[in-house]
Amino acid sequence: MPQVLEHPAQAGKDFLPLNGTDYLEFYVGNARQAAHYYRTAFGFRLAAYQGPETGVRDRASYVLVENKIRFVLTTPLDPDHPITDHIRRHGDGVHDIALWVDDAESAWRETTSRGARSVRPPETLRDEHGEARVAAIATYGDTIHSFVERRNYRGVFLPGFVAAGTEDGLARPVGLKYIDHTVGNVPLGEMNRWVDFYRDAMGFKMFKHFDDKDISTEYSALMSKVMSNGNERVKFPLNEPAAGKRKSQIEEYLEFYHGAGVQHIAMATDHIIETVRALRRQGVDFLRVPGAYYEDLTARIGPIDEPLAELQELGILVDRDDEGYMLQIFTRPVEDRPTLFYEVIQRKGSRSFGKGNFKALFEAIEREQARRGNL
Ligand code: FE2
Repeated sequence: MPQVLEHPAQAGKDFLPLNGTDYLEFYVGNARQAAHYYRTAFGFRLAAYQGPETGVRDRASYVLVENKIRFVLTTPLDPDHPITDHIRRHGDGVHDIALWVDDAESAWRETTSRGARSVRPPETLRDEHGEARVAAIATYGDTIHSFVERRNYRGVFLPGFVAAGTEDGLARPVGLKYIDHTVGNVPLGEMNRWVDFYRDAMGFKMFKHFDDKDISTEYSALMSKVMSNGNERVKFPLNEPAAGKRKSQIEEYLEFYHGAGVQHIAMATDHIIETVRALRRQGVDFLRVPGAYYEDLTARIGPIDEPLAELQELGILVDRDDEGYMLQIFTRPVEDRPTLFYEVIQRKGSRSFGKGNFKALFEAIEREQARRGNL
Protein backbone atom coordinates (compact mmCIF):
# COMPACT_ATOMS: atom_id res chain seq x y z
CA MET A 1 0.00 0.00 0.00
CA PRO A 2 2.46 2.65 -1.17
CA GLN A 3 0.34 5.66 -0.35
CA VAL A 4 -0.12 4.51 3.25
CA LEU A 5 3.62 4.02 3.62
CA GLU A 6 4.57 7.31 2.03
CA HIS A 7 2.30 9.49 4.07
CA PRO A 8 3.31 8.60 7.68
CA ALA A 9 6.99 8.80 6.75
CA GLN A 10 6.44 12.30 5.41
CA ALA A 11 4.32 13.36 8.39
CA GLY A 12 6.91 11.97 10.84
CA LYS A 13 9.89 13.85 9.41
CA ASP A 14 11.52 15.92 12.15
CA PHE A 15 13.46 18.84 10.67
CA LEU A 16 15.19 19.44 14.01
CA PRO A 17 16.15 16.05 15.48
CA LEU A 18 17.46 16.56 19.04
CA ASN A 19 19.38 14.06 21.17
CA GLY A 20 18.60 15.99 24.35
CA THR A 21 19.73 19.00 26.36
CA ASP A 22 23.50 19.34 25.92
CA TYR A 23 24.20 21.85 28.69
CA LEU A 24 22.77 24.90 30.43
CA GLU A 25 25.12 27.87 30.60
CA PHE A 26 24.67 30.34 33.45
CA TYR A 27 26.15 33.81 33.46
CA VAL A 28 27.12 34.51 37.05
CA GLY A 29 29.01 37.17 39.00
CA ASN A 30 31.51 34.76 40.53
CA ALA A 31 31.71 31.39 38.80
CA ARG A 32 34.38 30.02 41.13
CA GLN A 33 32.10 30.43 44.15
CA ALA A 34 28.94 29.34 42.30
CA ALA A 35 30.76 26.16 41.23
CA HIS A 36 31.52 25.44 44.89
CA TYR A 37 27.79 25.69 45.70
CA TYR A 38 26.70 23.35 42.89
CA ARG A 39 29.39 20.81 43.90
CA THR A 40 28.79 20.77 47.65
CA ALA A 41 25.02 21.42 47.71
CA PHE A 42 23.74 19.79 44.48
CA GLY A 43 26.46 17.16 44.10
CA PHE A 44 27.92 18.16 40.74
CA ARG A 45 31.49 17.17 39.81
CA LEU A 46 33.87 19.70 38.26
CA ALA A 47 34.62 18.20 34.83
CA ALA A 48 36.29 20.95 32.79
CA TYR A 49 37.48 24.53 32.89
CA GLN A 50 38.59 27.37 30.68
CA GLY A 51 39.95 30.75 31.73
CA PRO A 52 43.13 32.79 31.94
CA GLU A 53 45.17 29.67 32.84
CA THR A 54 44.11 28.07 29.54
CA GLY A 55 44.65 31.19 27.43
CA VAL A 56 41.12 32.66 27.56
CA ARG A 57 41.58 36.22 28.79
CA ASP A 58 38.04 37.61 29.04
CA ARG A 59 36.12 34.99 31.04
CA ALA A 60 36.29 31.89 33.22
CA SER A 61 33.96 28.89 32.72
CA TYR A 62 33.45 25.88 34.97
CA VAL A 63 31.77 22.76 33.54
CA LEU A 64 29.87 20.78 36.18
CA VAL A 65 28.43 17.30 35.61
CA GLU A 66 26.09 14.97 37.46
CA ASN A 67 25.11 11.91 35.38
CA LYS A 68 23.57 13.39 32.18
CA ILE A 69 23.16 16.92 33.57
CA ARG A 70 25.77 19.45 32.50
CA PHE A 71 25.94 23.05 33.78
CA VAL A 72 28.46 25.63 32.57
CA LEU A 73 29.05 28.58 34.93
CA THR A 74 30.67 31.55 33.22
CA THR A 75 31.87 34.82 34.69
CA PRO A 76 33.29 37.78 32.72
CA LEU A 77 36.63 39.32 33.70
CA ASP A 78 36.02 42.78 32.26
CA PRO A 79 33.44 45.49 33.04
CA ASP A 80 32.81 46.13 29.32
CA HIS A 81 32.18 42.47 28.47
CA PRO A 82 28.69 41.70 27.05
CA ILE A 83 28.31 39.03 29.75
CA THR A 84 28.73 41.79 32.35
CA ASP A 85 25.66 43.54 30.89
CA HIS A 86 23.68 40.29 31.15
CA ILE A 87 24.55 39.96 34.84
CA ARG A 88 23.90 43.65 35.59
CA ARG A 89 20.42 43.36 34.10
CA HIS A 90 19.35 39.85 35.10
CA GLY A 91 21.56 38.89 38.02
CA ASP A 92 22.85 35.33 37.89
CA GLY A 93 20.75 33.39 35.39
CA VAL A 94 20.57 30.96 32.50
CA HIS A 95 21.79 32.39 29.21
CA ASP A 96 21.98 29.28 27.03
CA ILE A 97 19.78 26.18 26.88
CA ALA A 98 22.09 24.23 24.57
CA LEU A 99 20.72 21.36 22.53
CA TRP A 100 22.66 18.27 21.43
CA VAL A 101 22.32 17.62 17.69
CA ASP A 102 23.99 15.44 15.06
CA ASP A 103 24.21 18.31 12.57
CA ALA A 104 24.59 21.85 13.92
CA GLU A 105 24.68 23.42 10.46
CA SER A 106 21.37 21.79 9.52
CA ALA A 107 19.76 22.70 12.89
CA TRP A 108 20.78 26.35 12.41
CA ARG A 109 19.65 26.42 8.75
CA GLU A 110 16.30 24.71 9.35
CA THR A 111 15.41 27.01 12.28
CA THR A 112 16.67 30.32 10.87
CA SER A 113 14.91 29.63 7.56
CA ARG A 114 11.68 29.30 9.60
CA GLY A 115 12.07 32.62 11.36
CA ALA A 116 14.51 32.01 14.24
CA ARG A 117 17.02 34.85 14.75
CA SER A 118 20.64 33.73 14.44
CA VAL A 119 23.01 34.79 17.21
CA ARG A 120 25.91 32.60 16.07
CA PRO A 121 26.37 31.24 12.56
CA PRO A 122 27.74 27.67 12.34
CA GLU A 123 31.34 27.54 13.47
CA THR A 124 33.88 24.70 13.79
CA LEU A 125 35.93 24.59 17.01
CA ARG A 126 39.06 22.44 17.11
CA ASP A 127 41.65 21.20 19.54
CA GLU A 128 43.79 18.07 19.93
CA HIS A 129 40.66 16.01 20.79
CA GLY A 130 38.91 16.68 17.49
CA GLU A 131 36.37 19.17 16.27
CA ALA A 132 32.90 20.28 17.35
CA ARG A 133 30.38 22.32 15.38
CA VAL A 134 28.31 24.96 17.16
CA ALA A 135 25.67 27.52 16.14
CA ALA A 136 23.01 29.40 18.09
CA ILE A 137 19.61 31.07 17.78
CA ALA A 138 17.77 33.50 20.06
CA THR A 139 14.74 32.55 22.12
CA TYR A 140 12.77 34.50 24.80
CA GLY A 141 14.44 37.45 26.54
CA ASP A 142 18.23 37.33 26.33
CA THR A 143 18.19 33.53 26.34
CA ILE A 144 19.63 31.51 23.45
CA HIS A 145 19.69 27.93 22.16
CA SER A 146 23.09 26.71 21.04
CA PHE A 147 23.16 23.69 18.74
CA VAL A 148 26.11 21.48 19.68
CA GLU A 149 27.41 18.77 17.36
CA ARG A 150 30.09 16.58 18.94
CA ARG A 151 30.22 13.55 16.61
CA ASN A 152 33.88 14.20 15.85
CA TYR A 153 34.91 15.39 19.29
CA ARG A 154 36.39 13.15 21.99
CA GLY A 155 37.40 15.74 24.60
CA VAL A 156 35.70 16.22 27.95
CA PHE A 157 33.46 19.15 26.89
CA LEU A 158 34.27 21.41 23.94
CA PRO A 159 37.50 22.52 22.26
CA GLY A 160 39.43 24.94 24.47
CA PHE A 161 38.32 23.41 27.77
CA VAL A 162 40.75 21.39 29.85
CA ALA A 163 39.64 18.34 31.82
CA ALA A 164 39.53 18.81 35.57
CA GLY A 165 40.42 15.19 36.38
CA THR A 166 38.15 12.37 37.46
CA GLU A 167 38.32 12.96 41.22
CA ASP A 168 36.49 15.91 42.74
CA GLY A 169 36.95 16.00 46.50
CA LEU A 170 34.18 18.61 46.85
CA ALA A 171 31.45 16.85 44.85
CA ARG A 172 28.75 15.16 46.91
CA PRO A 173 26.45 13.42 44.36
CA VAL A 174 22.76 13.16 45.25
CA GLY A 175 21.44 11.00 42.40
CA LEU A 176 20.28 13.69 39.95
CA LYS A 177 20.12 11.96 36.53
CA TYR A 178 18.96 14.18 33.67
CA ILE A 179 17.11 17.41 32.90
CA ASP A 180 13.40 16.61 32.73
CA HIS A 181 12.26 20.08 31.62
CA THR A 182 13.36 23.72 31.55
CA VAL A 183 10.69 26.36 32.16
CA GLY A 184 10.56 29.88 30.73
CA ASN A 185 8.63 32.87 32.11
CA VAL A 186 7.51 35.43 29.52
CA PRO A 187 5.56 38.70 29.93
CA LEU A 188 1.76 38.88 29.77
CA GLY A 189 0.51 38.32 26.24
CA GLU A 190 3.73 36.73 24.93
CA MET A 191 3.20 33.05 25.76
CA ASN A 192 1.45 32.23 22.49
CA ARG A 193 4.11 34.05 20.49
CA TRP A 194 6.76 31.72 21.97
CA VAL A 195 4.51 28.67 21.62
CA ASP A 196 4.30 29.58 17.92
CA PHE A 197 8.07 30.05 17.77
CA TYR A 198 8.77 26.57 19.17
CA ARG A 199 6.13 25.06 16.88
CA ASP A 200 7.01 26.89 13.66
CA ALA A 201 10.76 27.50 13.90
CA MET A 202 11.74 24.40 15.90
CA GLY A 203 9.08 21.83 15.00
CA PHE A 204 7.93 21.29 18.61
CA LYS A 205 4.37 20.24 19.48
CA MET A 206 2.14 21.17 22.37
CA PHE A 207 2.52 18.61 25.12
CA LYS A 208 -0.02 19.67 27.72
CA HIS A 209 -2.15 22.70 28.20
CA PHE A 210 -3.14 24.45 31.40
CA ASP A 211 -5.01 27.68 31.82
CA ASP A 212 -5.80 29.98 34.68
CA LYS A 213 -8.75 27.85 35.70
CA ASP A 214 -6.27 25.07 36.42
CA ILE A 215 -3.67 27.18 38.11
CA SER A 216 -4.93 29.89 40.36
CA THR A 217 -5.05 30.90 43.96
CA GLU A 218 -6.76 33.79 45.64
CA TYR A 219 -4.03 36.21 44.60
CA SER A 220 -2.02 34.76 41.81
CA ALA A 221 -2.53 32.97 38.54
CA LEU A 222 -0.61 31.88 35.51
CA MET A 223 -1.12 30.32 32.16
CA SER A 224 1.23 27.61 31.01
CA LYS A 225 1.73 25.62 27.85
CA VAL A 226 4.28 22.84 27.48
CA MET A 227 6.16 22.48 24.19
CA SER A 228 8.03 19.26 23.41
CA ASN A 229 10.30 18.17 20.59
CA GLY A 230 9.41 15.11 18.49
CA ASN A 231 11.07 12.43 20.66
CA GLU A 232 10.01 14.21 23.90
CA ARG A 233 13.56 14.39 25.20
CA VAL A 234 13.33 18.18 25.35
CA LYS A 235 10.35 19.81 27.08
CA PHE A 236 9.90 23.54 27.53
CA PRO A 237 6.93 24.70 29.59
CA LEU A 238 6.22 28.41 28.98
CA ASN A 239 4.46 30.55 31.59
CA GLU A 240 2.86 33.96 31.42
CA PRO A 241 1.12 35.77 34.28
CA ALA A 242 -2.67 35.82 34.42
CA ALA A 243 -4.80 38.41 36.15
CA GLY A 244 -4.95 38.00 39.93
CA LYS A 245 -5.78 40.22 42.87
CA ARG A 246 -2.12 40.68 43.73
CA LYS A 247 1.23 40.34 42.02
CA SER A 248 1.72 36.80 40.73
CA GLN A 249 4.95 34.86 41.17
CA ILE A 250 5.51 35.16 37.41
CA GLU A 251 5.25 38.97 37.62
CA GLU A 252 7.66 38.98 40.55
CA TYR A 253 10.11 36.96 38.47
CA LEU A 254 9.76 39.24 35.42
CA GLU A 255 10.28 42.33 37.58
CA PHE A 256 13.46 41.05 39.23
CA TYR A 257 14.90 39.29 36.15
CA HIS A 258 14.00 42.35 34.07
CA GLY A 259 12.28 40.39 31.36
CA ALA A 260 11.70 36.88 30.12
CA GLY A 261 14.01 34.11 31.25
CA VAL A 262 14.42 30.63 32.68
CA GLN A 263 12.27 30.21 35.79
CA HIS A 264 13.10 26.67 36.88
CA ILE A 265 15.03 23.60 35.85
CA ALA A 266 13.57 20.20 36.72
CA MET A 267 16.12 17.47 37.37
CA ALA A 268 15.06 13.82 37.54
CA THR A 269 16.03 11.22 40.12
CA ASP A 270 15.17 7.53 40.57
CA HIS A 271 15.00 7.88 44.38
CA ILE A 272 13.45 11.20 45.34
CA ILE A 273 13.41 10.55 49.11
CA GLU A 274 17.16 9.81 49.22
CA THR A 275 17.95 12.67 46.81
CA VAL A 276 15.95 15.25 48.77
CA ARG A 277 17.38 14.04 52.10
CA ALA A 278 20.90 14.48 50.72
CA LEU A 279 20.12 17.91 49.22
CA ARG A 280 18.63 19.11 52.52
CA ARG A 281 21.63 17.81 54.45
CA GLN A 282 23.86 19.73 52.04
CA GLY A 283 22.04 23.00 52.58
CA VAL A 284 19.50 23.22 49.73
CA ASP A 285 16.37 25.09 50.85
CA PHE A 286 13.00 23.73 49.70
CA LEU A 287 9.53 25.27 49.78
CA ARG A 288 7.43 23.94 52.64
CA VAL A 289 3.89 22.85 51.88
CA PRO A 290 1.06 23.07 54.39
CA GLY A 291 0.52 19.94 56.49
CA ALA A 292 -3.08 19.92 55.27
CA TYR A 293 -1.77 18.93 51.81
CA TYR A 294 -1.03 15.42 53.14
CA GLU A 295 -4.31 14.89 54.98
CA ASP A 296 -6.35 13.92 51.94
CA LEU A 297 -3.44 12.86 49.72
CA THR A 298 -4.20 9.11 49.66
CA ALA A 299 -7.84 9.86 48.88
CA ARG A 300 -6.78 12.10 45.98
CA ILE A 301 -4.03 10.02 44.38
CA GLY A 302 -4.60 6.44 45.59
CA PRO A 303 -1.94 4.04 46.83
CA ILE A 304 1.74 4.83 46.20
CA ASP A 305 4.99 2.98 46.99
CA GLU A 306 6.54 5.71 49.17
CA PRO A 307 5.81 6.10 52.91
CA LEU A 308 3.53 9.12 53.33
CA ALA A 309 5.23 10.15 56.58
CA GLU A 310 8.58 10.54 54.80
CA LEU A 311 7.04 12.53 51.95
CA GLN A 312 5.40 14.84 54.49
CA GLU A 313 8.58 15.18 56.54
CA LEU A 314 10.50 16.27 53.42
CA GLY A 315 7.68 18.26 51.77
CA ILE A 316 7.55 16.11 48.62
CA LEU A 317 4.40 16.53 46.49
CA VAL A 318 2.59 13.78 44.57
CA ASP A 319 0.30 13.92 41.54
CA ARG A 320 -1.39 11.25 39.46
CA ASP A 321 -2.79 11.09 35.95
CA ASP A 322 -4.12 8.23 33.83
CA GLU A 323 -0.61 6.93 33.10
CA GLY A 324 0.77 6.76 36.64
CA TYR A 325 2.08 9.15 39.25
CA MET A 326 4.98 11.49 39.87
CA LEU A 327 6.71 12.98 42.90
CA GLN A 328 8.15 16.49 42.90
CA ILE A 329 9.57 19.21 45.13
CA PHE A 330 10.70 22.80 44.50
CA THR A 331 13.62 24.70 45.98
CA ARG A 332 13.50 28.30 47.04
CA PRO A 333 15.16 30.67 44.56
CA VAL A 334 18.91 30.00 44.55
CA GLU A 335 19.96 33.64 44.31
CA ASP A 336 18.95 36.83 46.17
CA ARG A 337 16.73 37.99 43.32
CA PRO A 338 13.59 35.81 43.45
CA THR A 339 14.25 34.34 40.01
CA LEU A 340 15.72 30.90 39.23
CA PHE A 341 14.80 27.83 41.29
CA TYR A 342 15.00 24.05 40.87
CA GLU A 343 12.58 21.17 40.83
CA VAL A 344 13.48 17.59 41.71
CA ILE A 345 11.16 15.08 40.04
CA GLN A 346 10.67 11.32 40.03
CA ARG A 347 8.32 9.90 37.43
CA LYS A 348 6.46 6.66 38.03
CA GLY A 349 4.52 6.41 34.80
CA SER A 350 3.12 9.93 34.73
CA ARG A 351 4.41 12.25 32.00
CA SER A 352 2.65 15.31 33.40
CA PHE A 353 3.97 18.29 35.33
CA GLY A 354 2.06 18.19 38.61
CA LYS A 355 -1.04 20.21 37.78
CA GLY A 356 -2.80 18.90 40.89
CA ASN A 357 -0.01 20.37 43.02
CA PHE A 358 0.00 23.87 41.60
CA LYS A 359 -2.54 25.31 43.98
CA ALA A 360 -0.83 23.97 47.12
CA LEU A 361 2.48 25.03 45.71
CA PHE A 362 1.44 28.55 44.79
CA GLU A 363 0.04 29.15 48.22
CA ALA A 364 3.45 28.19 49.60
CA ILE A 365 5.20 30.52 47.11
CA GLU A 366 2.87 33.38 48.01
CA ARG A 367 3.74 33.06 51.68
CA GLU A 368 7.37 33.52 50.63
CA GLN A 369 6.50 36.49 48.38
CA ALA A 370 4.68 38.16 51.26
CA ARG A 371 7.82 37.78 53.40
CA ARG A 372 9.78 39.56 50.66
CA GLY A 373 7.16 42.34 50.51
CA ASN A 374 6.30 41.48 46.89
CA LEU A 375 2.72 40.31 47.18
FE1 FE2 B 1 8.35 21.94 36.53
